[in-house]
Amino acid sequence: MRKKLVAGNWKMHGSLVENAALLAAIKPALQGIEAAVCVPFPYLGQAQAALAGSSIAWGAQNLSEQTKGAFTGEVSAAMLVDFGCRYVIVGHSERRSLYGESDELVAKKYMAAQAAGLTPILCVGELLAEREAGVTEAVVARQLDAVIAAAGVASLARAVVAYEPVWAIGTGKTATPEQAQAVHAFIRSKVAALDVGVAAGLVIQYGGSVKASNAAELFIQPDIDGGLIGGASLVADEFVAICRAAAK
Ligand code: 13P
Repeated sequence: MRKKLVAGNWKMHGSLVENAALLAAIKPALQGIEAAVCVPFPYLGQAQAALAGSSIAWGAQNLSEQTKGAFTGEVSAAMLVDFGCRYVIVGHSERRSLYGESDELVAKKYMAAQAAGLTPILCVGELLAEREAGVTEAVVARQLDAVIAAAGVASLARAVVAYEPVWAIGTGKTATPEQAQAVHAFIRSKVAALDVGVAAGLVIQYGGSVKASNAAELFIQPDIDGGLIGGASLVADEFVAICRAAAK
């Protein structure tokens, strides 16, 4: 049985004061439940101090594909390791669409993360227009193929994939459990065509307007192994309920 994993993606939200309250609320409530929070870079030290020794891991939302050097404003994988990160999100749709990250750049970031011992959470997912045009599987396949071509299918044994349909992110429009399951099954079968063992162990999260009220029906699907949670990860009671739904 695969473990389910819920990770919060705080995006560009929070402050020292707000984070302290949120972390203090989720930590005792999630005792013994494996979960993660991906926080803005400046708050990694705060997350590390608050969560060390707990069952909640922490990570970042982006990293540089470079290891070091004259890359003003960038943050390397080694720097994330310095702050005890376990996870780093790569290829989030906001990075792809707002910051022009290509499939090839995402693959380089994925490899940089793994080379430093981090577990990348690789985001894939289609735009609304792509779903309506019937090319969801082609888009997701292209995004996955870029990483598999660069890093090999075996690398997915040290990664998490998050299926996040772009039209469901921050819109309140969740994919139905059936819609999400279909794409998750497609992703798993695609990986299985290359490596059955890696496919069986691959954690595939769903992301896009997951809330306490819809988490259980999503997580019960056979190929949905937890979630990547945006807005609801900023509300302690919501995030705790979502993590508990995955732990059932
Ligand atoms: P929401 O949960 O706010 O829709 O965001 C999903 C997401 O983008 C997580 O990475």
